[in-house]
Amino acid sequence: MAYTDKGLTVTPILDTGFGAELGTPEVNPSWGGTARVGTQYLFDVSNIEADGTVVKKGTRRWAHSLGNALWHTDSSFNQHRAKYSLLLSHSVPDTGCATEYADTRQSWKDLPAEKKAELRDLVVEHDLWHSRRMASPEHYSHLTEEERTKKPPAYHRLVQKAPNGEEAVFLAAHAKRLFTPDGKEVPNSQNIIRDLIEHCTLPKYSFLAQWNSPGDLMWWDNRQSMHRAQPYNEKMGPRDVRRSTVLDDGEGSHGITQEEIQRLDLGSNDAPIVYDIPVPKVDAGNGVTVMAA
Ligand SMILES: [Fe+2]
Repeated sequence: MAYTDKGLTVTPILDTGFGAELGTPEVNPSWGGTARVGTQYLFDVSNIEADGTVVKKGTRRWAHSLGNALWHTDSSFNQHRAKYSLLLSHSVPDTGCATEYADTRQSWKDLPAEKKAELRDLVVEHDLWHSRRMASPEHYSHLTEEERTKKPPAYHRLVQKAPNGEEAVFLAAHAKRLFTPDGKEVPNSQNIIRDLIEHCTLPKYSFLAQWNSPGDLMWWDNRQSMHRAQPYNEKMGPRDVRRSTVLDDGEGSHGITQEEIQRLDLGSNDAPIVYDIPVPKVDAGNGVTVMAA
């Protein structure tokens, strides 16, 4: 959903009345810092540093944000997954910008029955660092111990129930490996994941939404969609966007239980995976401004 011309200046989750209706907001563990936005319930997904300058190419923050230009689901790398994301614009650059969305419920529904039977019971490993490596291998091929400790992988059912009771695939560029229900790693997981993302993001299942004015708000459901930002480039102007995320409180919200993760020994391999998924061009040189989400 998109809200425009409402004069919004505060992300709705921070409004006590409206926020209570939506659910519990996710706490930002520190991605992007909170210096500019002033609360742990907002993710600063702008391209603006704390000192007001635009993020520079080659910095860790630039590299980290490139992963947002891959198709993903917010916070799927957490064991407690997210339900809603609400992204509010506080400024829009003259060059324009957009966010793209894909429907993971209808696209799953349209898969052949035999393909769905192959995939339905699989477990998927979502690892934040996997998507960062894909988007910026020069920065994220080797993690610091702090990074690995701060954000280990999470494990979820690949196919889950959407709010209307239908099935939806729970996928993102964070998806690193697939496992059978008894804990065996599925060969060629990355190829299967790539093909599934490609299917879910076909033009008939996706659309691009333009940001026009300060106060524009986009609100999406991470349980039945993926999205992606336009990649950073060196001609981008300042873009101030702040995201709040609401924790899922439904069936499957905490993914695979810790007991099950240990019993199946799912977290035993954190080696980088060789991948062949095309990565968006970082500097298209077309003046398109990033919409980090
Ligand atoms: Fe996002």
